[in-house]
Amino acid sequence: MKLWGGRFEKATDKKVDDFNSSIRFDQRLYKQDITGSIAHARMLGKQGIISLEDSELIIKTLSEILTDVENGKVEFEIDAEDIHMNVEKILIERIGDTGKRLHTGRSRNDQVALDIRMYVKDEILEINKMLSELVETLLKLAKEHTRTIMPGYTHLQKAQPITFSHHVMAYVNMLLRDLDRLTGTYKRTNVMPLGSGALAGTTHPLDREAVAEELGFGSVTMNSLDGVSDRDFAIELTSNLSLIMMHLSRFSEELILWSSNEFRFVTMDDAFSTGSSIMPQKKNPDVAELIRGKTGRVYGSLMALLTVMKGIPLAYNKDMQEDKENLFDAIDTVKLCVPVFNGMVSTMKVNKDIMLQGAKGGFANATDVADYLVKKGVPFREAHAIVGRMVLFAEKANKALDDLTLSEMKECSEYIEEDIYEAISMTACVEGRSLIGGPAESAVLKSVEVAESLLKEYRM
Ligand code: ARG
Repeated sequence: MKLWGGRFEKATDKKVDDFNSSIRFDQRLYKQDITGSIAHARMLGKQGIISLEDSELIIKTLSEILTDVENGKVEFEIDAEDIHMNVEKILIERIGDTGKRLHTGRSRNDQVALDIRMYVKDEILEINKMLSELVETLLKLAKEHTRTIMPGYTHLQKAQPITFSHHVMAYVNMLLRDLDRLTGTYKRTNVMPLGSGALAGTTHPLDREAVAEELGFGSVTMNSLDGVSDRDFAIELTSNLSLIMMHLSRFSEELILWSSNEFRFVTMDDAFSTGSSIMPQKKNPDVAELIRGKTGRVYGSLMALLTVMKGIPLAYNKDMQEDKENLFDAIDTVKLCVPVFNGMVSTMKVNKDIMLQGAKGGFANATDVADYLVKKGVPFREAHAIVGRMVLFAEKANKALDDLTLSEMKECSEYIEEDIYEAISMTACVEGRSLIGGPAESAVLKSVEVAESLLKEYRM
């Protein structure tokens, strides 16, 4: 019989049992569920709501069940519906009537809210660790390549020279914000809902704060309806995960492009590449492509969660059981992607010479010619037009700007002197941009320093 079977005259239809049951996917919450129940049982005993003996027997048996689950000795049952009732049922099978006292002053509604919050907290810590390790890898790369000049792009057209270090640091800054967001979500998840009951709390004198303390929560929820009704913390995490994937996906896209024969800016390590079943020459960036592809499923989870929650009245509704698979899948996907992305970027070869060649083509120093003229007194808008004509001339002559002779340049503007060549060299273009946040070596090293201290702050 069902734990809630008292008021029913018929058994549940088999199809409904299968349909209703969440044990297939919520069994991964077993540890949070049992640990939460142990804290609840201890508190019930201390408060005299159940006897101390009962409390101790329940705690001891729950610990044994936890060990048994971990050793694969427990089989969960579909018709016990979910992890919460499976554990309770096993407890009652083992210690009879005493086990029936565990659920005093509690509902599955606050129980599941507790379990998911505990789960989300644990997972945030793991993801924070993986992401911090990735940031470390990127910082290392950035420090190695402060003089590795490459073209920067807008519209995927060569724009201005930067360094590989500067490019990598752009992603470091994005991932640091991701880490910061994770710590914020952790803070809001770290609130203990048990004691909310089904929706209206309970008449039993629970000590909510003691439970929160035993389970490592910072505080308790302040409204019993809210405590069982919202999943905003799970949505927040999935939103953070979506942004992490968005960042990895953009970087992946660049690495895919850069490892093509047209670019050759990077060479992926063999251990992080795959071959073709028909074309013997192929070495494909599957890892980066799969990360880009998996981004979509994390976005999908976010949209699914938002949609599940948008129309349901307070308090608990069974719709909310649909939170789990999406949340779990988003978490699993990110935990799969971050370490493999880390491995891929830490083993790839950076082809400095080709990057430099790339920076030299495509008139990436045109702005610097204009800035040169401005420094000689020409108004910027005029300088822009002069250099535009110079580019047109160089393009027709099939030359780079710095390959033009001084007299060719002088035809465009009499202000141009011999010192132009030094002023528009790739190194000068990069090193001249030494403002805070710029690509010059000194500025990048400063940004590395700031990033390192932020990483320390956000690491959990
Ligand atoms: N399996 C349920 C879920 O995941 C647990 C809560 C069930 N509560 C209820 N009143 N049916 O949401």
